[in-house]
Amino acid sequence: MDNIGSHSFPPASTEPTSAPTLQQPTSPEPSGPAAATTASNALHHVGFVMEIAGSGSQITLDAARLKELVTHRDPSIAMAGQVGSQIKIRVGGTWLLASIRTQRMHEKDHGVIMAAVDFLGEGDEEKLTGKIFNFRRGVTRYPVPGSEVYAVSSSDMKQVYAADSRPHVEIGTVFPTKDIRGALYVDAMLGKHFALLGSTGTGKSTSAALILHKICELAPEGHIVMVDPHGEYSAAFKTNGALFDVNNLAMPYWMMNFAEHCEVFVTSNGDDKQLDSDILAKCLLKARSKNRLAESIGKLTVDAPIPYLLSDLTNIIQTEMGKLDKATNSAPYMRLKGKIEELKADPRYNFMFSGMLVGDTMADFIAKIFRLPSNGKPISIIDVSGVPSDITATVVAVLSRLVFDYAIWSRNEPQRPILFVCEEAHRYIPSDRVAKDSAVRTILERIAKEGRKYGVSLGLITQRPSDLAEGVLSQCGTIISMRLNNDRDQAFVRAAMPEGARGFLDSIPALRNRECIICGEGVSIPIRVALDTLEENKRPASEDPLFSELWQETGGEAEILERVVRRWRSQGR
Ligand SMILES: Nc1ncnc2c1ncn2[C@@H]1O[C@H](COP(=O)(O)OP(=O)(O)OP(=O)(O)O)[C@@H](O)[C@H]1O
Ligand SMILES: [Mg+2]
Repeated sequence: MDNIGSHSFPPASTEPTSAPTLQQPTSPEPSGPAAATTASNALHHVGFVMEIAGSGSQITLDAARLKELVTHRDPSIAMAGQVGSQIKIRVGGTWLLASIRTQRMHEKDHGVIMAAVDFLGEGDEEKLTGKIFNFRRGVTRYPVPGSEVYAVSSSDMKQVYAADSRPHVEIGTVFPTKDIRGALYVDAMLGKHFALLGSTGTGKSTSAALILHKICELAPEGHIVMVDPHGEYSAAFKTNGALFDVNNLAMPYWMMNFAEHCEVFVTSNGDDKQLDSDILAKCLLKARSKNRLAESIGKLTVDAPIPYLLSDLTNIIQTEMGKLDKATNSAPYMRLKGKIEELKADPRYNFMFSGMLVGDTMADFIAKIFRLPSNGKPISIIDVSGVPSDITATVVAVLSRLVFDYAIWSRNEPQRPILFVCEEAHRYIPSDRVAKDSAVRTILERIAKEGRKYGVSLGLITQRPSDLAEGVLSQCGTIISMRLNNDRDQAFVRAAMPEGARGFLDSIPALRNRECIICGEGVSIPIRVALDTLEENKRPASEDPLFSELWQETGGEAEILERVVRRWRSQGR
C-alpha cells in the first residue's frame, strides 16, 4: 500500500480552512513503490508542492515531521526544511532538486510551514536503487501541485555534487555534510571570470591562495598574474611562484601607452590638463621615433611600446618650449619637464623610471611576468606594496593592459590563456560613485567585457562589491562569496547572481569564517562549502597579530629602530 500517496490535500479554495497535513504513519521509512530502495536511500517525506510559478514556487512542510528528522544521523536529512537546504520532488522518472529560500508559518495551521523554493536542476533515477544520477542544471518538467516533497540525503548530495569528468579542483566540503567534496570546474570558472567576495577577515586571501594553489597543481604550465597590493602572497607561493616587487620588477616606463603616460607625467587639472597632454603627445611621439626600432614601423603611434630615453623626451620638451613666441605661456612645458625629472631622480620610482630600463626588454619582461614558459612556476606574484601610492594604479593599468594586448597581438600564435587576479579590486575598478575614470579602470572593464574572447580571464577579489564599477560583477560567471556583513554589499551580490541561487544568498550574512557560497559557471549547482584548511606554508602572510602574545615579548628595540629608520630614510633601498 502506498502510504505516502494517501494524504489529504487542501481544498482548492484560496483560503484553506485547514492546512495540508501529512497523514502517514510516523515510521520514518515509508513503504510502497517509492520506498522500494536500500535503507540508506530511504525516502523521507516532508511535505507537498503547493504552487508552481516559474521560479517562485511554494511548498508546504510538516513541522512535526521536520522535528522528528532533526536527530537523524545523516546531517543532510537532519537539516531538512531549513532555509538554504535542499528538497527533492519526483516528476516521472526524474528527480527535481530545489533549495528552500524562505519559510513562514501557515496562518491557520501552525503545524505547517509554507516555504518558497528555487529549482536547481534535475537528475535521473537509477531504477534499482532509486539513486539520483546524471544531475544537470535547469528544469525541463515541473511537478504538479500536490506532488510529494522529500528530504535530500547525503547520498543524493554526493551524486549531485560529484564532479563529472571535466577538469576540476576540490576546495572544501559541501555544507552540511562532513565528507562530500565541493569542486570548481576550472575551464568554466576561468572561461567567464570569477569574483571572490567577503568582508574583511572572512578568509578571502587564504581562499584565493587555496584555489590558486589547486589550479597551479592542476596546470603546472599555466599563466597566472596576481597583483598583490599588500605584499601578502609571496609567502604563499615561495616554491611555485615567481615573486616580483619593486626591487626586481624592472618595468620599463616606455611600455606605458599615452593615457598611462598622462597619469604620471601630467599633474595639472581642468583646461591645463588638456594643454599639457597635447604637448606631451607631440613630444612623446618625437622621442619614440628617435629609436631605430621606429624606422621599421610605417606609422608610429604615441601608444606603441617603443623604447625612448627620458632625457630625449625632456630635451624635446625644452626645444619645443624654445620655439614659442614670447606671448605664449611656457608653464605647461615647465610642468612636464619638472615632473619627469622629479620621477627620474626619486629612488622610489627606480623600478620603473631608472635609466637602466631603456633597453628593448619588452619580450623578456613579458616572458618573466606572464610565465612564458612557466618553468614549473605558473604564477607570478607582483607585490606592489612598495610602489609609491600615486602611481600604483598606473602600474596595475600597465600590467593588465599588457595581458590584454598580448592576448590580442598573439591571436595567430599558439594560444596561451592568462588569468589576471586582482586583490582589492574595488580600488582599481571603482564605481562612478567612488572615483573618476582611470586607465586601470578602463582596461579592467574592457577585460571584463571582452577578455573571454581572447583567452584572458579575470579574478577579482574584494571586500566591497558595492564599490565595484557597475556591471563588472555581472560579467563574472562565477561568484564565490564569503560572509558579507554589509546590506549594500549583499544586495549587490544578490543582483549579480542567477535567479536560482537567491535562496542560498540569504545565508551569506550567516556564513562562518572560511565558509563560502559558490554559484555560477564554476559549479553545477550553487553550493555552500566549508573551505579546506590550507597548510601554513601556503597561506598568505596576513595573520592577525596576537597582541596578547606579542605584548609579552621585549628586547632588541634599539637595533630594530636603527634598522627601521635606515630603511625608512633610504626608502627600501
Ligand atoms: N582555509 C583556511 N585555512 C587556514 N586558515 C585560514 C583559512 N581561511 C582563513 N584562514 C585564517 O583566517 C584569517 C583571515 O584570513 P584572510 O587574511 O584570508 O582574510 P581576508 O578576508 O583576506 O581579510 P582582509 O580583508 O583583511 O584581507 C587568517 O589568519 C587565516 O590564516
Ligand atoms: Mg585579504
